[in-house]
Formats: sequence, structure tokens, C-alpha cells
Amino acid sequence: MKKLRHMMNPLDFSVEELERLFDLAGNIERDMEGYSHKCDGRILATCFYEPSTRTRLSFETAMLRLGGKCMGFADANSSSAAKGESVADTIRVISCFADICAMRHPKEGAPMVAASKSTIPVINAGDGGHQHPTQTLTDLLTIRSLYGKLGGFTIGLCGDLKFGRTVHSLIEALSRYEGIRFIFISPNELKVPDYITEMLRQKGIDYEEVVRLEEVMSQLDFLYMTRVQKERFFNEEDYIRLKDFYILNKEKMALAKESMYILHPLPRVNEISVEIDDDPRAAYFRQVQYGMYVRMALILTLLGIE
Ligand code: NCD
Repeated sequence: MKKLRHMMNPLDFSVEELERLFDLAGNIERDMEGYSHKCDGRILATCFYEPSTRTRLSFETAMLRLGGKCMGFADANSSSAAKGESVADTIRVISCFADICAMRHPKEGAPMVAASKSTIPVINAGDGGHQHPTQTLTDLLTIRSLYGKLGGFTIGLCGDLKFGRTVHSLIEALSRYEGIRFIFISPNELKVPDYITEMLRQKGIDYEEVVRLEEVMSQLDFLYMTRVQKERFFNEEDYIRLKDFYILNKEKMALAKESMYILHPLPRVNEISVEIDDDPRAAYFRQVQYGMYVRMALILTLLGIE
């Protein structure tokens, strides 16, 4: 019997395994029809204890386009969590019904607890302010597709680097590739956590921390914008003070390279002005499309179908 595999953190897959996953996503993109029955008879459960639009629907469309079916809940209050059921018990139940599960939870580590009790593959679809590995797979595939390779560029990550789980997963994942320079752009209150800068120092990876975006804009090959994570703030005053700290507009874009790409995991609030959406450098909606292909590839891989 094949070993049960989960996706909790992007580092769960080696760089070579990720290459295979991205190649598979590329094949799927070129031949959707050819993959449309690969998951016939299989069921994906989406267990979302926290709000989501893209991630949940992206998983569901991924499974539907592979010929499978989906079930689940989009709100903790409509599940037995509201009656006090533990994640460990819920996943035991889900394991009887579905072939694979994508789980989002406000508590860091909850999907790992689920994975430890599960008899089906579990995918971490975001756990609190910790990790969001499938967004990272999306980001890596987008960068690889737009830039041609994963490595040899300067990436600026801007906004809420403290609570933004997509940022944490992406930095860890990119730290395995050569020639990447990180520029962290945030207010002092929202700096990237120490455990991440410590990891970069230990690996001898180049990074810089700045407050002003304008100062570094011209150096960037990628600008990864993020939303200030309102739901993770302890008081509303701090959120209101920091929420509009960065607003990417035409003026700031005039300082950027013609070849720079703007990425954003979405949802966007105010941090990217809508006037930027038609700029050819705005890649955030294309990024959503890559997210579907890579989730299709991940489902196939974890089910051992490809
Ligand atoms: C992100 C998340 O949930 O962490 N959204 C997403 O899944 N694309 C980013 C965010 O909510 O700001």
C-alpha cells in the first residue's frame, strides 16, 4: 500500500517533487480535457472553519474539473465544531466519507492534528497566521511561469508580514532556490517574525527590511503585496492605524521596472488601487488561474493517480 501523504507545509515536498508537480500543472493547463476523468468516483471534502472564497472554490473546481465530486462546510458554525467536536474526531468521520480533505482553520496546527488522525490525505488550506502551502504552490508556479525559472531575482514582500501566512510559507519555500534576494517592506509593527529572519541568516540568504516601498521599488523583479490581516489583530485601533499604510498606485508603479510583476494572494482591500489592474505588470488575477492548475496537480499527486 502507498504511504499516506499530506500537504501541511510547502517544505513537505522536495524541490524535485515540486518540479514534477509544476510540470504536471503545466500539462493539465495544456490539456484540461485529458485530465477530466482522472478523479471519476473520488470525493474531496472541504472543511473550512474560517472564511474563504478563492481557496475553497479553487479546490472544488479543481476536483470537479478532474471528474470528482465535492462536499464539505464553509463555516465552522454549520459543522459539529459548534457542538464542541474536536478536529481529531471530525477528520476520523470525514475519512469514512471522502478520499481527500482540504482543511482551513483559525488555529495554528489544527490541520496537522487532523493529518495525524486521518486515513486520507489532508491538505492544509491555511492555519491561522502560520502556513498556507497551496497558496505558495500557486505563487511558485506563477513565478516559474512568468519568469521562466525559480531563482535569480529580487522579490519585495509588502504589507502585513507578521500575520500573513502566505508570506511565511512563500519565504520558506523560496529559501531553497538559488540567487533570491528578499526585501521585506512593512511598518515596524508588522515585520516578518524573528523565526523567519533567523532561518534566512542561518542559511546565509540576503534580505533587507525597510518601511518605505518607494525606496526599493526600482530594485524589484516581483512585488508581493498583502492585505493587513484584520482578523488577527488584538485591537481595532492598531488595525485602523495600519490598514492603509501601503496603497500601490500609478505614482509608485512609475518607479518600478517595466518587467516587474505584481503578485497578491487576494483578497485585496485597499493595498492595490484598482487603477493598477490594467497594468500589464499586474499578475494577481492570472495567479488565481495558476492556483487551480496546481491544486489539480496536487490532488492527483496525493491520491497517487499521477
Ligand atoms: C490568503 C489567506 O487566506 O491567507 N487568502 C488566500 O487564501 N488567497 C490571504 C489573505 O487572506 O489575505
